Amino acid sequence: EAQAEHKVEIFLADYEPPKTVVTDIRLVFCLFDTHADITATSTFTRNGDLAAPMVLDAGDMLEIVSVKLDGVAARHSRGKRTLTVEGAGAGGTLEIVTRIKPQDNTKLEGLYRSGGMFCTQCEAEGFRQITAFPDRPDVMARYAVRIEADKASCPVLLSNGNPVASGGLGEGRHFAEWEDPFPKPSYLFALVAGDLGHITDHFTTASGRRVTLNIYADPRDLDKCDHAMESLKRSMRWDEEVYGLEYDLDLFNIVAVGDFNMGAMENKGLNVFNTKCVLASPETATDRDYDSVEGIIGHEYFHNWTGNRVTCRDWFQLSLKEGLTVFRDQEFSADMGSRAVKRLDDVRILRSHQFPEDGGPLAHPVRPDRYVEINNFYTVTVYNKGAEVIRMMHRLIGAEAFRKGMDLYFARHDGQAVTCDDFAAAMADASGKDLSQFKRWYSQAGTPVLSVSRARTGNDVIVTIEQETAPTPGQPVKEPFHMPFLMGWVATDGQAITPVVTGGDWREDGCLLEVREGRQSFTFKDVPEGAVPSLLRGFSAPVRLKSDLTREDLAFLLRYDSDPFARWEAAQTLARDQVLGVTAALIEGRNAPADTPFSDAVESLFADKALDPAFLAELLTLPGEVELGQMMEVLEPGHLHEAREATLNDLATRYEAEMRARYDSLRPKGGYKQDGAARAARRLANLLLQFLARRPGGDALVKAHYEAADNMTDRIAALSAVSDSDFACRGAILADFYERSKDEPLVLDKWFAVQATSRRGDTVQKVRELSRHPAFTLKNPNRLRSLVSSFTMLNQAGFHDPSGQGYRFLAETILAVDKINPLIAARLVAPLGRWARVEPARQAMMLDSLRFILDEPKLSDDVRELAAKSLKG
Ligand code: ARG
Ligand code: ZN
Repeated sequence: EAQAEHKVEIFLADYEPPKTVVTDIRLVFCLFDTHADITATSTFTRNGDLAAPMVLDAGDMLEIVSVKLDGVAARHSRGKRTLTVEGAGAGGTLEIVTRIKPQDNTKLEGLYRSGGMFCTQCEAEGFRQITAFPDRPDVMARYAVRIEADKASCPVLLSNGNPVASGGLGEGRHFAEWEDPFPKPSYLFALVAGDLGHITDHFTTASGRRVTLNIYADPRDLDKCDHAMESLKRSMRWDEEVYGLEYDLDLFNIVAVGDFNMGAMENKGLNVFNTKCVLASPETATDRDYDSVEGIIGHEYFHNWTGNRVTCRDWFQLSLKEGLTVFRDQEFSADMGSRAVKRLDDVRILRSHQFPEDGGPLAHPVRPDRYVEINNFYTVTVYNKGAEVIRMMHRLIGAEAFRKGMDLYFARHDGQAVTCDDFAAAMADASGKDLSQFKRWYSQAGTPVLSVSRARTGNDVIVTIEQETAPTPGQPVKEPFHMPFLMGWVATDGQAITPVVTGGDWREDGCLLEVREGRQSFTFKDVPEGAVPSLLRGFSAPVRLKSDLTREDLAFLLRYDSDPFARWEAAQTLARDQVLGVTAALIEGRNAPADTPFSDAVESLFADKALDPAFLAELLTLPGEVELGQMMEVLEPGHLHEAREATLNDLATRYEAEMRARYDSLRPKGGYKQDGAARAARRLANLLLQFLARRPGGDALVKAHYEAADNMTDRIAALSAVSDSDFACRGAILADFYERSKDEPLVLDKWFAVQATSRRGDTVQKVRELSRHPAFTLKNPNRLRSLVSSFTMLNQAGFHDPSGQGYRFLAETILAVDKINPLIAARLVAPLGRWARVEPARQAMMLDSLRFILDEPKLSDDVRELAAKSLKG
């Protein structure tokens, strides 16, 4: 059968229900060191033209050994991506035997080996690398699985659902059988076989089901699984309390895998995790890592309802499960820790990753309407902007109606594969709110810019909000969005006031305005002279905000605003002004401006003894260079970097005494603790260390900090200061860290990352050198990202080194990785595509690098899709 060499673009508008539906499947896996044989026996029915042959998805790594229909050999033929079977009729039993080579599978998709362990990753389209199948999420079947393997190398044999049988087979082999009672799409299938240890615990659900919880890992890593287990129990409790959702099997297994493309995977009853997202100990993980493990454990667990019980009709609907589940994990983390700090972390991710995506050549809606390779759409837009869309619905209809909407969604769709429209309909029906305009958030890409201005008429203030969204590729004209805009007022004495408003609604956390038009005004009655509006509280919509707030207004909000986001945003706005002011001066060869609005405003913060140290650390953290670069008409990465450094130096110089005193007071008296207070103290102390490292005596302070560290959070903070520096102790400390970490892959990743993000001028050469280090490999996604993505995505100045070496290095790396793992190669492309706003000399070199990639004749569909879009701009 002739099939296009390259994958073609597919469209949401072309959706058709499946022609072949499988209701039950039995899979028998015979695993060997040299290959795996798989027998898949499916019960199927067909729709449409029954005389037409049956076309199944079949991956390029699959060898078809035999095909039978109702026990009789069937005529069949192989296409590049399909298996066509003749004579299938209206339905029956299909038996397919396939052979694969898991040990050669470097794409880490389908069934592969990591270390000695066999494991699977089927989302989105990996199942077709195991057997030929209608591999799409709207085909849901009951799975029965038998695994046979060598007992010594694979004592543990796992799959979805419940264990039903196991035993010996002779010749050192054994088997296990599993059954999953819940029909599921193929992307949720999982198998694990290997020499794993595990920890066990239990959770009793609200209705009394006693669930066994296991976390499996390399036996050497079992001492790093406790935090994940505690996080899992907290997740299970939280979903019961907040959504009334209980776990539905007697067993929940998690497996930690060292070679894994993404973070983790929510396979029914058998979640598979990247080790990075599950293992944590004080010696190996930072406080941030602890948070990220808790959030991802929650995320995958929450998928059991939002993803598994109710799944996606097709992959255009990916945000149906991902946006919703990210929203749920964000709320879980907010409830477990500091809600204020969690929100700022989420906003930072949007601004430094999602806004650039939305403003560049790879912009796409939360529900894309076309794609070539679905793996390219597991993006911050689908995940994190998708979560903001859910959060806005939650804000617009309120928590109570949202919960009713969730109940209605499950009542209507449990066991189904549905669309984002079905979700919005449940929310609209439960709340009575018309969400038809709101749904533009699903279909229109781009970040709206809101401009807010005030006009006083007598005692009243009219607040005018304008929205504008720039064109994105394929979407030249944008309709206005419907969004919640939460705001407040602070009177001159620092007290909150709640003036009567037309068209708005006061709630506990502020006044909710519903913005629907391109330009809209709201009148606040009897606003006292001098009162300052606090805007976009809670970051109530994923927009860029422009306003007529003056520096005085911002400094005032920084002191008095009760809304943590708006307060932090006041600081961020002043900091942006200061850094961008210095940048402009550097570009034009002028002296730096004399006014330093952020440095001035910081003074009041050191005086405020009531401030939570973790929140103070947030207020003192400057926006990153990627975020700042987004605000320049033409990006000059070198000047921007210099200006931000100058601002940091200014702060360190002016507040050295306060910083030093605070640093000393925060240093722990006793040993390491993981509680909130200890973590907040570490966060602030480690931030202050970065400032103090810039001052005379900084080298001794950093060295002492490194040597005193009894946990990874403190040690990495010192290492990062060292890596940025030219301290005499630099080489010795980097070497010491390497020695300590060489047997701990996740810690060694940090050693690479900290050097890749160094602000030193020689980083691009150093990164090249490190790419030849014996411990570096392109085959392990974590190691690859620790060096390459850290450099290209987090080190803007280094990546944009004026030599162009950063671009060249990335392009060469992409081509090398593409031969091993196209999914991972494609995820490296984005930084090269952001050439449009970069100064001309660098722009030309970036475009050259994209052409260099596209010149490769054997380029994967994955990389080609993104590189071609990037070149077009
Ligand atoms: N569903 C997983 C999660 O978000 C992500 C899996 C993505 N895998 C992939 N190959 N694109 O929890
Ligand atoms: Zn997910």
